[in-house]
Amino acid sequence: MLKIKEFNKIIVANWKLNGSNDFLEAYFDKLVLKDIDSDICGIICPPITYFQKCHSKLHSLYLGAQDCSKFKDGAYTGEISASMLKENNCEFCIVGHSERRHEFNENNEDIKIKAGLLLDAKIIPIICIGETLEQKKINKTQEILKEQVINSLPQKSSKENVIIAYEPIWAIGTGMTPSLQEINNIHEYLKKDIEEVEGYKFLYGGSVNSENASEIMNLENVDGVLVGGASLKADQFSEILKA
Ligand code: 13P
Repeated sequence: MLKIKEFNKIIVANWKLNGSNDFLEAYFDKLVLKDIDSDICGIICPPITYFQKCHSKLHSLYLGAQDCSKFKDGAYTGEISASMLKENNCEFCIVGHSERRHEFNENNEDIKIKAGLLLDAKIIPIICIGETLEQKKINKTQEILKEQVINSLPQKSSKENVIIAYEPIWAIGTGMTPSLQEINNIHEYLKKDIEEVEGYKFLYGGSVNSENASEIMNLENVDGVLVGGASLKADQFSEILKA
């Protein structure tokens, strides 16, 4: 398992349900990897069918998955297990993304089980949490985040082996982000006021692009970013990796 504490910033590309063989060729032709500082951990999370192709082109970047099965093995048609991911060079895996929580009805308990299986397979889970706009409007953000984070953490979890990503749902794919002050305050709350995750690495996600990545990542309490749309554009993601 990689030593996440040795990295200064962690930058994750979540490709979601995007990509094709042609896309991959063009993407890696354009992606600039030579100016990335050695203390930056860059991770690309493509659909699993592109793992092998990506792995051969990643150089100093790491391979991550976007989800895994909550089952170890057995009669579960269509599923991919954590240990299968590990056998395919996977070092990280996003779990509990809001799109999975909402489109696929995943709950904190499912996420906790998945994160536990990932740890058993020596893969670092990136556990996602985030509030809806309605919850934000009625000042429930902190309460919701605390509940999600505490209930999604597997027993073996520690600051050495789990990363948490804060993605306000209303900021995903909308071009809207909280203010820098708000992002920093929420991360400070998560890092310092919730005993169970004190000292963990926390990423911010939601409409991160090459223009705002640097200022977000430089916030005192932010350890990196989780990027959706902008990570599909090789020139933008190259800029973010250098930010
Ligand atoms: P966008 O960067 O497209 O807003 O997506 C964020 C996200 O969901 C990353 O996991």
